[in-house]
Amino acid sequence: MPLVSNIIPEDLHVAIIMDGNGRWATAKSLARLKGHAKGADRVRDIVDAAMDMQISHLTLFAFSTENWKRSEGEVLGLMALFRRFIRSEAAKLFSRGVKVRFIGCRDRLDKSLISLMEGLEDQTSQNDKLYLTIGLNYGGRDEIARTAKKLALQVKAGAIDPQDINIEMFGSNLDTSGLPDPDLVIRTSGEYRTSNFLPWQSVYAEYVFEDTTWPDFDKELFEKTLGEFKGRNRRFGAVSSK
Ligand code: FPP
Repeated sequence: MPLVSNIIPEDLHVAIIMDGNGRWATAKSLARLKGHAKGADRVRDIVDAAMDMQISHLTLFAFSTENWKRSEGEVLGLMALFRRFIRSEAAKLFSRGVKVRFIGCRDRLDKSLISLMEGLEDQTSQNDKLYLTIGLNYGGRDEIARTAKKLALQVKAGAIDPQDINIEMFGSNLDTSGLPDPDLVIRTSGEYRTSNFLPWQSVYAEYVFEDTTWPDFDKELFEKTLGEFKGRNRRFGAVSSK
């Protein structure tokens, strides 16, 4: 049987809801932030695995518009972790050809984090080996509402005709503008929800729900989920030709 890595379709977009850091830590009597730190190590491994398998698009849900409801300590710890991650990974991501882009609303984020995010996006803007998109203060409903507001303001200014607003035009004004829709959405840690992650973009995505928590999600499991995806019969609303 060929390795999954030999049968990856061109331009595959895999999106991941990285869930279960807290439970991983609690099960080991560790602080939740230790789970997030281990989760960040896993991000490094899964980015490497995606590159090895020649996956072209990887999108990761790092912090949702709802995650602000967590304790101040956890939110601050996560923000510090994102800053550390960008500082420690920037050179490697750049040299390996990864193009990084952040999606979500930046209004509530700390200036120092925004400047690191912008720096990494600028530094990697010419890369094209792996398109790595990270959702940070991302929520699908928020993204859709912001897009509607943006288009409404353009209509008001006379820059666009409301008749021109259609699915393609709306989609090309979302944070994910230019990215293909996800083919596969993976959620770890045994929860069967999509939690406001890419609702517009994932209407025809295949979902794989994996029981393992994110800190234990390794390359082998990643390959297994891709194998499961390959076995799905995607019809996009049409009739199967199989
Ligand atoms: C969900 O687990 C995870 C998060 C809210 C944070 C995701 C962050 C990381 C994986 C770490 C770093 C990421 C990057 C991009 C550097 P949870 O806390 O909801 O787990 P629980 O459901 O078990 O409590």
